[in-house]
Amino acid sequence: MCAKSLLLVFGILLGLSHLSLSQNWATFQEQHITNTSSINCSNIMNNSLYIVGGQCKKVNTFIASSATTVKGICSGVTDKKVLSSTKFQLDICTRIFITPRPCPYSSRTETNYICVKCENQYPVHFAGIGQCP
Ligand SMILES: *[C@@H]1O[C@H](CO)[C@@H](O)[C@H](O)[C@H]1NC(C)=O
Ligand SMILES: *[C@@H]1O[C@H](CO)[C@@H](O)[C@H](O)[C@H]1NC(C)=O
Ligand SMILES: *[C@@H]1O[C@H](CO)[C@@H](O)[C@H](O)[C@H]1NC(C)=O
Repeated sequence: MCAKSLLLVFGILLGLSHLSLSQNWATFQEQHITNTSSINCSNIMNNSLYIVGGQCKKVNTFIASSATTVKGICSGVTDKKVLSSTKFQLDICTRIFITPRPCPYSSRTETNYICVKCENQYPVHFAGIGQCP
């Protein structure tokens, strides 16, 4: 292979990895970041975002904050779980039992540090509350 086609392949790979990254961050934002202070768990958890393998997701944590603030947790972090240095206001929706959708959920609020998995400075996975597992 000549240098040119190597470069092309490399470029495509880079492009692809970038694509999947921003998709993960986009999904993280959709699933975990909210600008409203009160969440109706039963309502919101009926969204397809929270139906995993045909079943209602067991638990989902909503962060009442801006995307910019949450992204800041991963500033300078390539690939690691990070505990935030500030506390966030959280809404936690927990499934009460499994039914055909919509499932009933209970909700509670908490103000705490959050642990997120960072990839190339983007949060891609919500990893825990209060500490990193
Ligand atoms: C909150 O987010 C919703 C949906 O993204 C948007 O329609 C609404 O304008 C936002 N409200 C505020 C106060 O930013
Ligand atoms: C959530 O929404 C459902 C359906 O609209 C409603 O019956 C229920 O009272 C709401 N719960 C709260 C806590 O507002
Ligand atoms: C839940 O979502 C399904 C699929 O979008 C919809 O048909 C149903 O009316 C929703 N139920 C409630 C209570 O919002």
